[in-house]
Amino acid sequence: MKVVVVGLGYIGLPAAALISGKGIPVHGVDINEKIVTTINSGKIHFIEPDLEGLIHNAVTKKLLVADTKPAEADVFVISVPTPILDNFNPDLNYVENAVRSVIPYLQKGNLLIIESTCPVGTTEQMAELIFNLRPDLKNNLHIAYCPERVLPGNIIHELTSNDRVIGGLDEASTTEAANFYRQFVNGAMHLTNVRTAEMCKLVENASRDVSIAFANELSMICEEANINTNELIQLANRHPRVNILNPGPGVGGHCIAIDPWFIVSSYRDHSKLIEQARKVNLNKTEWVIEKIISKAKELEMVLGRKPIIACMGLTYKADVDDLRESPAIEIVHALKRNYYDIVSVEPHAQNGLQEKLETVSMEHAVKKADLIVFLVAHKQFRSLQIPGEKTVLDFCGVKN
Ligand SMILES: NC(=O)c1ccc[n+]([C@@H]2O[C@H](COP(=O)([O-])OP(=O)(O)OC[C@H]3O[C@@H](n4cnc5c(N)ncnc54)[C@H](O)[C@@H]3O)[C@@H](O)[C@H]2O)c1
Repeated sequence: MKVVVVGLGYIGLPAAALISGKGIPVHGVDINEKIVTTINSGKIHFIEPDLEGLIHNAVTKKLLVADTKPAEADVFVISVPTPILDNFNPDLNYVENAVRSVIPYLQKGNLLIIESTCPVGTTEQMAELIFNLRPDLKNNLHIAYCPERVLPGNIIHELTSNDRVIGGLDEASTTEAANFYRQFVNGAMHLTNVRTAEMCKLVENASRDVSIAFANELSMICEEANINTNELIQLANRHPRVNILNPGPGVGGHCIAIDPWFIVSSYRDHSKLIEQARKVNLNKTEWVIEKIISKAKELEMVLGRKPIIACMGLTYKADVDDLRESPAIEIVHALKRNYYDIVSVEPHAQNGLQEKLETVSMEHAVKKADLIVFLVAHKQFRSLQIPGEKTVLDFCGVKN
């Protein structure tokens, strides 16, 4: 068996590493030449524990070769990005281009799997595209959708041990895809149809988004009602069937902040709650910016100058180094646009801070700043001592 993996990012590269680790030759494809060169030198282009060793091993044994072009194979895995456009509609160009790029290499009996997060119906659309250009493959190609649910920072473990939801265009495709994953996945295989598998990934993240929106909305209500949100949530969660999440400055990351839009854009009339949750979470970031500026203005009256603001945490959630779609970054940029002097702290900066934001140590920030704003509940912040004369705003409950 030979496998082509198209898109060698956070999802495709670890998958290529695990498949080749089972002795199956992998031809990895990426349009980014720099990424191809990096991988072929046995290195990786982002930080992920345990991945570099696996890649180095696979490249040395010639079980993994990266290239800018696909090749013939038995199985084709598509793991390219699916971002949203400015109007919140999905941008399917990457998936379409990736599928188009493998069409000349497809042969009868092959299996094509889409792993990219996609709106419902995308796999069927891609099948139509393939069969229009290659009618010879009709009824001779297995096509399936299998979403990824891995957590960056723990991808290798989760890729192997998480359950998989697999939906083929027909039963034979589902079975073929499940047989493929069984070679390197220990988690259970849950077999379904293609549209359910596509929707499953979207619903998982929309469900998280709605729950976070509830907590975020609550935090704004509590502020107006002069109630401590964290105390309220702790008390409400004493109810045996209530589990309210912690509020924060918004929602970030590569999935939860994006995937619900794939449902809304396709089913607008019936996704009012999902859309509203997205809006609540986006609005929460604006609300936080307003609160910081309002407090800064109060301090300016007292100090006779603009206060220095320490922004504590830049990643999209606690204890990771991932900055994608991070509300904290948006908040820092908004404060800078309002001409505030900012000192930013990100304890995980040394692990790959890609944004062009200078960071300082947390002790330095506390010493220098007049206003200390907690944006991410990193565990390092919990024991941080803050002198009584400093003004503190905690938007992530880390100082409770
Ligand atoms: N990163 C996550 O944590 C995560 C989790 C679950 C699902 N997903 C989904 O998996 C998919 C991939 O995400 P990712 O995080 O790996 O993205 P990524 O940006 O890290 O990597 C994608 C790679 O695909 C390459 N690419 C783009 N178009 C290509 C083409 N036509 N041919 C070959 N290569 C191409 C890019 O150069 C890039 O290196 C997305 O749909 C995402 O939503 C991601």
